[in-house]
Amino acid sequence: MEAGARRPAVLIARRLLPAGLERLAGECEIREGGLEATAKRLLELAPGVAAIVADPTVPVGEPLLEAAGPQLRVVANFAVGYDNVDLEACRRRGVAVANTPGVLTNATAELALALTLAAARRTSEAELELRSGRWRGWDPGAHLGLELSGATFGIAGMGRIGRRYAELVRSLAGALLYTSRTPKADAEDALGARRVGFDELVRLSDVVSLHLPATPETSGLVGRDELRAMKTHAVLVNSARGPLVDAQALAEALREGEIGAAGLDVYENEPDVPAALLEAPRLVLLPHIGSATTRARDAMARLVADNVLAVLRGEEPPNRVA
Ligand code: DGY
Repeated sequence: MEAGARRPAVLIARRLLPAGLERLAGECEIREGGLEATAKRLLELAPGVAAIVADPTVPVGEPLLEAAGPQLRVVANFAVGYDNVDLEACRRRGVAVANTPGVLTNATAELALALTLAAARRTSEAELELRSGRWRGWDPGAHLGLELSGATFGIAGMGRIGRRYAELVRSLAGALLYTSRTPKADAEDALGARRVGFDELVRLSDVVSLHLPATPETSGLVGRDELRAMKTHAVLVNSARGPLVDAQALAEALREGEIGAAGLDVYENEPDVPAALLEAPRLVLLPHIGSATTRARDAMARLVADNVLAVLRGEEPPNRVA
């Protein structure tokens, strides 16, 4: 950006943490939507911006791109997933799209591990019993869960987060299965993981953990048939994206005892959580906190700023996805 030139405007659709905001504010005019920003408000704020900072809850498609105008140069997503961004529409307009990979790998894999343990040991319902004053003391038959030592872990998607989850559960796992479009020699050699098809993975695993992006191919990946194919004590964990799991089918599978337990951090239409899930037994529900550690979120915010500033300076953004 040339000295003396007008500062480019950046629309922060919702909220960017200070670690990134301060970098941007040094060089740009900031327009913030805030956490409650409606789609209408974003359309009002967009005209004339050179960059949009979005997050998984902000759909970036034709209406917002059109409202921003032809000077828009980059959409920087405050997330590794970018299913909220219409990549084709951005490409058509010559708008770069960037994300925040790597820095949230540990945080998200650790949260998947937390969900796995919490679901297997039914900690949410046990804590609820205590908090609501219904606990009547140690009960040999209450809240019996699944012991994970020796379990077969099935990891759908062996990208960065799936791979880190595999490392974290390695010391518990009797066997590690994974799915991936291509074989991952490193995971096989270093962790003893075995590549299988998704059908085999759901049939053989005691824990199925999803680590795939939301795409047309992964939508409804776990539906009624897959849930019925799982072991009746199996635990399903989804820390990836809501559309991967058919929520109604999952609620029914839990009610009917077709699977043992589940843990979810993501939902199809966040922040709406289907009533069927809220009422389902043996289910741990978290509000999309996979990357919510101070270290990860600060690093993500810095990457967002770096991606925006690189494009505005005419450089290649560090994390371009389109
Ligand atoms: C991501 O980065 O895609 C996460 O879901 C945000 O927590």
